[in-house]
Amino acid sequence: MEGREFIEKLKKEVNKAVVGKEDVIELLAVALLSKGHVLLEGVPGVAKTTIAKSFADAIGLEFSRIQLTPDLMPADIIGSTYYDQKNSEFKIKKGPIFANVVLADEINRATPKTQSALLEAMQELQVTIEGQTIPLPKPFLVIATMNPIEAEGVYKLPEAQLDRFMLKIEIGYPNKDEELLFLERKDKGDFSKVNKIIDKNEILSMINKVMNVKASKKVLEYIYKIGIMTRNDERVRLGASPRALEHMLLASKALAFLRGRNYVIPDDVKEIAVNVLSHRILIKGEYEVDGLKPKDIIEEILDKVEVPK
Ligand SMILES: Nc1ncnc2c1ncn2[C@@H]1O[C@H](COP(=O)(O)OP(=O)(O)OP(=O)(O)O)[C@@H](O)[C@H]1O
Ligand SMILES: [Mg+2]
Repeated sequence: MEGREFIEKLKKEVNKAVVGKEDVIELLAVALLSKGHVLLEGVPGVAKTTIAKSFADAIGLEFSRIQLTPDLMPADIIGSTYYDQKNSEFKIKKGPIFANVVLADEINRATPKTQSALLEAMQELQVTIEGQTIPLPKPFLVIATMNPIEAEGVYKLPEAQLDRFMLKIEIGYPNKDEELLFLERKDKGDFSKVNKIIDKNEILSMINKVMNVKASKKVLEYIYKIGIMTRNDERVRLGASPRALEHMLLASKALAFLRGRNYVIPDDVKEIAVNVLSHRILIKGEYEVDGLKPKDIIEEILDKVEVPK
């Protein structure tokens, strides 16, 4: 399937269950096609879980949901061994991480130990259970959700872990029209099941096509300049890592593909930059007091860096 056809069908299908949020759907597609993982951030009740589940249903891949809580252990996610009495041998019981799309709900409620088991797997694309290494399925996409409101019993994700997410997507309140439409559709019972629109082989072939999307030297330099400016900004305590720049390139390629191109243009980079960078940049304490957010600095940088022709 071509990129434009895929994204159009996907948005239409997810719309059966979700009002609006088309930008979120597109970003989830970007992550899927560029082998990234996503952090969905938003207050309770803005449809984080509904969006993730509907997206998974539409792409029809094996889906699993892990509700993270403080008493969840790493083995509850990756799996463990058990003794099979009948055959007198140890067997491996795979955990819920063995799925194509894993919804890690409320990731900041798990202990650091469990968080890091999940994030290791995300990075390595394999898990080790009692010394045995088992690859995770392909494709593999983690959608983690997080409530930004600091609450008791919450373990903040360390910066090193955040860097492993390709994109952070902030889900805000709907606008007036959307919220009214949402109420109207609820009133009429106008929400329905999301069906599969594509099969796995087609998704894998799109992932290949995305890898073959070209980026010119000028585009690479543009990405580099944005990255360097985050590192050199005097208000910034931690700037973009090389991995962040790699993610910016990969996500731009996927976006180019969804727009029907086999080459990246600087606008792809510009469009994706805030989602790739905002969770990795730390502002120095003295500047945070003015309510300055990483997003503001990134937007300033995007305005400043000359866009190559
Ligand atoms: N844009 C929307 N379209 C359709 N339904 C919505 C939308 N926004 C909210 N809802 C509805 O609101 C309810 C809460 O959604 P959901 O559970 O997905 O939110 P959440 O962000 O995961 O919340 P929590 O942080 O509590 O887990 C559901 O009934 C969902 O259908
Ligand atoms: Mg939820």
